[in-house]
Amino acid sequence: MALPLSSSIFPSSSTPSLPFTKTPSKLFPFTFSPQNINFLTRRALPSLKATLAVDSPPAANAGGGGTGRVLLEVKDLRAVVAESRQEILRGVNLTINEGEVHAIMGKNGSGKSTFSKVLVGHPDYEVTEGTVVFKGENLLELKPEERSHAGLFMSFQTPVEIPGVSNMDFLLMAANAKRKKHGQPELSPLEFFGYLSPKLQAVNMDSKFLNRNVNEGFSGGEKKRNEILQLAVLEAELAILDEIDSGLDVDALQDVAKAVNMLLTPHNSILMITHYQRLLDYIKPNYVHIMEDGNIIKTGDSSLAKLLEKEGYKGFSEQ
Ligand SMILES: Nc1ncnc2c1ncn2[C@@H]1O[C@H](COP(=O)(O)OP(=O)(O)OP(=O)(O)O)[C@@H](O)[C@H]1O
Ligand SMILES: [Mg+2]
Repeated sequence: MALPLSSSIFPSSSTPSLPFTKTPSKLFPFTFSPQNINFLTRRALPSLKATLAVDSPPAANAGGGGTGRVLLEVKDLRAVVAESRQEILRGVNLTINEGEVHAIMGKNGSGKSTFSKVLVGHPDYEVTEGTVVFKGENLLELKPEERSHAGLFMSFQTPVEIPGVSNMDFLLMAANAKRKKHGQPELSPLEFFGYLSPKLQAVNMDSKFLNRNVNEGFSGGEKKRNEILQLAVLEAELAILDEIDSGLDVDALQDVAKAVNMLLTPHNSILMITHYQRLLDYIKPNYVHIMEDGNIIKTGDSSLAKLLEKEGYKGFSEQ
């Protein structure tokens, strides 16, 4: 049975419900049907290429300690809500090079989450103009699952719950799907646990969460940690983190930031959306962008976020 996209990978305004039979969560044995595997491999799956397809010259604004190669290039992106045709994104331009950390800030409703959801192919939106190139490929031509296979990961502002699927099962399936794509032998549950343990430690997450269903009954902060755990397992090249700091207490914020920093290499990049300068003290951005009314109206370094905190959005507004 094919799962409807909108209720499987993507959280929607209504509570997502998945047609999984509720079973007691357990580590072993694994009881996935091919349908479930199909579903699981649709979410955020790992990068498949060890090397970049694109070999562009270093961009003028390269400065993230990375290779300077372009990872994502968004040009004049316009998008509407598919159902109502209401335009949300109005000509977004953004270039992210390997190894860079970018932050997008902006008022509520300015289009930040929509931008990230359009990048991962959320079916609620339709791109009407512009281009998005990821690792030299036309991202807009790829299905959502192909985008995640290509190395894109998104942590949603409101992470989806998956009843009936334990966290361990989910992560193992995702990790093995990646290994399969790389032509590597799949890991047994025990081997996988060895791979997972340091990542659990990095996120400072208790292993009891592995036995629980994905995000079901998790507190807001636990969900956010769990998203970073997924990212750690999937090792995506571009991680889009939508308000990863929301609902985190001070310790959790530090844990999550530490884990994100540990994942950064000269070859992968982060696009984080936040309202607060505080996150940027822990995960230092190379670039801070301000979004307003579906457009990036200003780009600067981390001092921009500090200025914003001090003075608010007045002064940055286009009007
Ligand atoms: N599926 C949708 N249907 C109708 N309107 C939508 C939809 N998605 C986004 N919008 C509208 O587009 C605008 C931008 O929403 P978006 O969620 O991208 O804002 P945001 O910048 O992430 O805000 P916040 O900081 O509050 O998370 C809002 O006015 C929102 O109501
Ligand atoms: Mg948002």
